[in-house]
Amino acid sequence: MIEHLFVVFAFGAAGVFCLVSLYVSFIWLPRKMERAYRNALRTLATAVETKDFSTLGHAERVAELAVRIAQKLGLSAAEVKNVRYAALMRDIGKASVPHRILNKQGDLTEGELRVVRNHVREGAAIVSQIPFLAPLADIILHHHERWDGSGYPDGLAGEQIPLASRIIGLVDDYEAMTSDRPYHRAIQEAEARRRIEEAAGVLYDPAVVEAFLAVSDSLPLKPETPEASAA
Ligand SMILES: [Fe+2]
Repeated sequence: MIEHLFVVFAFGAAGVFCLVSLYVSFIWLPRKMERAYRNALRTLATAVETKDFSTLGHAERVAELAVRIAQKLGLSAAEVKNVRYAALMRDIGKASVPHRILNKQGDLTEGELRVVRNHVREGAAIVSQIPFLAPLADIILHHHERWDGSGYPDGLAGEQIPLASRIIGLVDDYEAMTSDRPYHRAIQEAEARRRIEEAAGVLYDPAVVEAFLAVSDSLPLKPETPEASAA
């Protein structure tokens, strides 16, 4: 009888041990790693933003809205994760742009513009050297392409542009329009939404614009600033 109870107990304990091991290996550890990755990326994004004063807090807001658009478009969980990470890391290449150019008050010269625009290539080169970020390289490289082919660096058009880049490019513009920058004053969010809607099929993917309008209406990126209200 005692031997029988011992065997039952031993099998029970082994079962519990197996379940705990499975939970730790496939749920707890991956979640912990995911949080660590995300925090590391946030820190890197913030490090770049402290160099470009006008964009402080920008990456986090762009990432949040980009993720909501990606979810609205029905992207898979893995694709949504790539959108989040790429949105956080998209301007990491600005680390190579001199501070005086990033924060210049007047118009940029042709040469300075070339240096700023090169941040997409620099950023793609940086992430491609880090195995778990390598899939983001293409998204980062093309986040300034435009639907009509007028963007950079390669002048890609329409669906040649990775979908994640189309999403991030639109949100990046929206966030820039509604923020004070060295070269312009913030405009109201409703006005920025109107301009983006107007540019559907020209600068932006119409499907991405539709998803953006659906989610941004219920999620203002930030409270209206006095400057934006006055614009
Ligand atoms: Fe950028």
